[in-house]
Amino acid sequence: MQLRRARGGKVQLGVLLALLLCSSLEGQENSFTINSVHMKSLPDWTVINGQNLTLQCVVDISTTSHIQPQHLMLFYKDDLVFHNISSTKTTESFFIPQARVYDSGTYKCTVILNNKEKTTQQYQVSVKGVPPPQVTLDKKEAIEGGVVMVNCSVPEEKGPIYFTIEKLELNSKHVKQKREKHCLDQNFVTLEFPIEEQDHVLIFRCQARIISGTSMEVSESSRSELVTVRESFSVPKFHVSPAGVITEGDQLLIKCTIQVTHLAREFPEIIIQKDKVIVANTKQGNEAIYSVMALVEHNGNYTCKVESSRISKVSSIMVNITELFSKPKLEFSSARLDQGEILDLSCSIPGAPPANFTLKKEDTIVSQAQNFTKVASKWDSGKYTCFAAIDKVVKESDMVQIAVCEMLSKPRISHDMGSEVIKGQTIEVSCQSINGTSPISYQLLKANRVLGSRVESSNDPAVFRDNPTEDVEYQCVVDNCHSQAKMFSNVLRVKVIAPVNEVKLSILLDEAVESGKEIVLRCSVNEGSGPITYKFYREKEGESFYKVISNDSQAFWRKPQASKEQEGQYYCTAFNRANRNVPSSNTLPVRVFLAPWKKGLIAVIVIGVIIATLVVGAKCYFLRKAKAKPRPVEMSRPAAPLLNSNNEKMSDPNVEANSHYGYNDDVGNHAMKPMNDNKAEPLNLDVEYTEVEVSSAEPHRALGTKGTETVYSEIRKAN
Ligand SMILES: *[C@@H]1O[C@H](CO)[C@@H](O)[C@H](O)[C@H]1NC(C)=O
Ligand SMILES: *[C@@H]1O[C@H](CO)[C@@H](O)[C@H](O)[C@H]1NC(C)=O
Ligand SMILES: *[C@@H]1O[C@H](CO)[C@@H](O)[C@H](O)[C@H]1NC(C)=O
Ligand SMILES: *[C@@H]1O[C@H](CO)[C@@H](O)[C@H](O)[C@H]1NC(C)=O
Ligand SMILES: *[C@@H]1O[C@H](CO)[C@@H](O)[C@H](O)[C@H]1NC(C)=O
Ligand SMILES: *[C@@H]1O[C@H](CO)[C@@H](O)[C@H](O)[C@H]1NC(C)=O
Ligand SMILES: *[C@@H]1O[C@H](CO)[C@@H](O)[C@H](O)[C@H]1NC(C)=O
Ligand SMILES: *[C@@H]1O[C@H](CO)[C@@H](O)[C@H](O)[C@H]1NC(C)=O
Ligand SMILES: *[C@@H]1O[C@H](CO)[C@@H](O)[C@H](O)[C@H]1NC(C)=O
Repeated sequence: MQLRRARGGKVQLGVLLALLLCSSLEGQENSFTINSVHMKSLPDWTVINGQNLTLQCVVDISTTSHIQPQHLMLFYKDDLVFHNISSTKTTESFFIPQARVYDSGTYKCTVILNNKEKTTQQYQVSVKGVPPPQVTLDKKEAIEGGVVMVNCSVPEEKGPIYFTIEKLELNSKHVKQKREKHCLDQNFVTLEFPIEEQDHVLIFRCQARIISGTSMEVSESSRSELVTVRESFSVPKFHVSPAGVITEGDQLLIKCTIQVTHLAREFPEIIIQKDKVIVANTKQGNEAIYSVMALVEHNGNYTCKVESSRISKVSSIMVNITELFSKPKLEFSSARLDQGEILDLSCSIPGAPPANFTLKKEDTIVSQAQNFTKVASKWDSGKYTCFAAIDKVVKESDMVQIAVCEMLSKPRISHDMGSEVIKGQTIEVSCQSINGTSPISYQLLKANRVLGSRVESSNDPAVFRDNPTEDVEYQCVVDNCHSQAKMFSNVLRVKVIAPVNEVKLSILLDEAVESGKEIVLRCSVNEGSGPITYKFYREKEGESFYKVISNDSQAFWRKPQASKEQEGQYYCTAFNRANRNVPSSNTLPVRVFLAPWKKGLIAVIVIGVIIATLVVGAKCYFLRKAKAKPRPVEMSRPAAPLLNSNNEKMSDPNVEANSHYGYNDDVGNHAMKPMNDNKAEPLNLDVEYTEVEVSSAEPHRALGTKGTETVYSEIRKAN
């Protein structure tokens, strides 16, 4: 493009500038206008690849001047200026020799006159067709496993070009390989083609595609020269010996050979395979050998594979070996025997040809004879096979599994707790048959009902868990493969003791007990196994005052003649050997009150003593008064202290009596009043004895009313 631009615009730059200057000076007086501008293409807007193409820009200018004005013409391709020229001519051309696809595009032209400018419409130039590409190869002779470099180019064109190269066998339409490549900024591509074992005489085809505007231009395909392929090694060949019929016991030889050309860089590897198993291989040399004593199992399809890095050639052969004798059969009396029964094994070959036999249990030889008989013991369990040999040919029978069952020993039953189980605790009951073939199935019976089942794969104990809530009996049942019936263990008796709970203390009859009557306290428990230790306590005393051990859910304490001493707060405790801590009952208050007649009796005695004292006191006073009349003042003095001291003395027993019984009754209080009133009228000699009947229900009222009138009452129990 650069070259052509130079070709088109070969006008002296100096002259051009001078002319432009002139015209612009003239233009100040003359008037110019661009009427129209358009483009032409010769021969056409669409040309064949390689044709000469001329693009023209044609302008029509009107002017008042007598000479044509100088104007600038700009040629655009795809909106880029590629050519400009200053001219006074109405038509300017741009010549493209041998148009190529890359010349296709959108063209336009702009004319500039002074400050006026006009542009043509857009014109589409299309170049049809792509020249055929050139195909060159790096070699004319190739070896299997090698490669051929194929160079395909379109020298006339520019990228981007899309190349397609195909590999074909000569005189075949089948494309063996096809490679494609898009070259953005080159007009050639070089691709590598590997040579494979099926290749003989090869040609390569190349085709180029270029996008021209909106369409794709495709070249014809060009063919390369021929490439001759040389084998690096031959297809493998089998040789089997002995020739003809092969019988078991023969030495079988399978050989696979190849021929390698001197051109090969290395020996390929030879592998003999039977099914998926590699039976022989070699990496050096041109043969592999598999040699074995022929047996029927060597029958089959053998494959020989020869492999170098890229080339692999395979051939296969069927080998047929005639059987000498068929596989022996191991027969047995029974697959499952009880210990002590007869184990009978017999090995035989169909047709009974003379042969040597060997019987094996796992890997140890049990017998060298055809037949084997013995009394079965548990050690005889296992997998048996027999081998039959005729000459060198040894054949193995199918495996036979024999199980000899040892009888189970009587199961032992035990549990993990002591002699007693506390209610709520979990016990583990174990059952075990020391002897006997496993697997052993265990069942635990609880009160003749099945509690659980377990299968042990050894002679270890089977462990069952349970939470007994009451005394219970367990028993185990075991069974195994032995033909004897199920076996039972001894019965395991488990004693379950319930701890004491909810202790309650109560009193029979009434909480308030009349003194002299019986007190009966009952300590009871809601639940608990005997023997239960009951203890009765009075509060604030550390020691219990009564203890009893009983199997009953209650215990009693009796006090036949209650007195004030028995009054107090009571509680009891109860526990048995299942209790961790000792549960205690509620606290129960017990009151003891005096019988009414006793109270009365006491009052009478007290009052009697007071009266007697007063009478004596009064007599002494009057006697002294009569003797000592001349000195009345002195006489009266000692009388008051006497009376006072009497008074105090009389009040004392009263107080003692009250404190003795431990409580202040209304009766007691009123009983004191007459003595206090007595102090107010000490000289009253006329004592009246009034007999008052008092009901036991209201003794104090009767006393109280009389008391205020200073009346000494003798009280008698009425009821
Ligand atoms: C194309 O142009 C070249 C000059 O560049 C000329 O020699 C040739 O003859 C032309 N070809 C045709 C077909 O006009
Ligand atoms: C015209 O072309 C010349 C060289 O040929 C260049 O220097 C100049 O910039 C171009 N003018 C325009 C307007 O493209
Ligand atoms: C392929 O061929 C082209 C033209 O013939 C050449 O310019 C280029 O260098 C070649 N490439 C290779 C890798 O040989
Ligand atoms: C042997 O095996 C090969 C590969 O697996 C197979 O192509 C061939 O057909 C087989 N031959 C016979 C006789 O089965
Ligand atoms: C092998 O040979 C035996 C006879 O010798 C024939 O019966 C049998 O069909 C052959 N088997 C194969 C797979 O060729
Ligand atoms: C082995 O036992 C089979 C029957 O089970 C009998 O026919 C055969 O003669 C016995 N062979 C020998 C060598 O005792
Ligand atoms: C059995 O073994 C003996 C001793 O090894 C041998 O002499 C005899 O030939 C063998 N018999 C057969 C049928 O293989
Ligand atoms: C278990 O078997 C052995 C011999 O195998 C015997 O000595 C032992 O007494 C047996 N024990 C019981 C519990 O049967
Ligand atoms: C409690 O009962 C057991 C037997 O169940 C008996 O041996 C024991 O003497 C009883 N104890 C009392 C204190 O009765």
